Amino acid sequence: MHAPLDVVVLASGRGSNLRAILDACAAETCTARVVAVVSDKPDAPALALARAHHLPAIAVALEGKADRPAWDARLADAVAAFAPKVVVLAGFMRIVGPAMLARFPNAIVNVHPALLPAFKGSDGPAQAIAAGVRLSGCTVHLVDAGVDTGPILAQAAVRVEPGDDAASLHARIQRAEHVLLPAVLDAIARGAMVLGAPPRLVGDAAPTEARAVLFAPPLR
Ligand code: GRF
Repeated sequence: MHAPLDVVVLASGRGSNLRAILDACAAETCTARVVAVVSDKPDAPALALARAHHLPAIAVALEGKADRPAWDARLADAVAAFAPKVVVLAGFMRIVGPAMLARFPNAIVNVHPALLPAFKGSDGPAQAIAAGVRLSGCTVHLVDAGVDTGPILAQAAVRVEPGDDAASLHARIQRAEHVLLPAVLDAIARGAMVLGAPPRLVGDAAPTEARAVLFAPPLR
């Protein structure tokens, strides 16, 4: 039996990935535990969701460009107060800075709506549609100083269907995210995935990861 993996989730938006993690955590077999949710947007629906779950919900707003280094330090302090083992960026629409990276080395995980290293940045599904790829998906990766460049932990593929636009593709990708992200947290909590440079899989990690990686809508 492993101790639960304490996780702080950072989210700017509606928080469907946060909901997926919370739902997974409600299961008896759950190995991860959300201890707080932090947002750069005081009115983020993700914070309301956290409150509804009786979790600490904290806003650390960025007050303009000049505030960025101080904001980064405030964010690191706010997150560190909960002593998480892992920090999850679940739709956190800011680049975390040096203070966060120094405080949580190899412990910040991001979910991105594309099969990295393709289609980095904020509009992965739109880039995939524009490029005409037939397969897209999501990536869970460690965060480094670049934008969507850190070591890949797991990926799930989804088909691009005829007639898809960025929104319909993103919706399908998100269904995969909601499986993949909790699966990665579970693997970390069980000690089956070890974060580090590089991250590695241990022992019985392969089945969980393989299930997540192979997750895709059935072919028709
Ligand atoms: C997700 O698609 C994630 O990949 C991206 O931002 C989106 C957040 O969605 N980084 P939600 O707020 O979890 O619904």
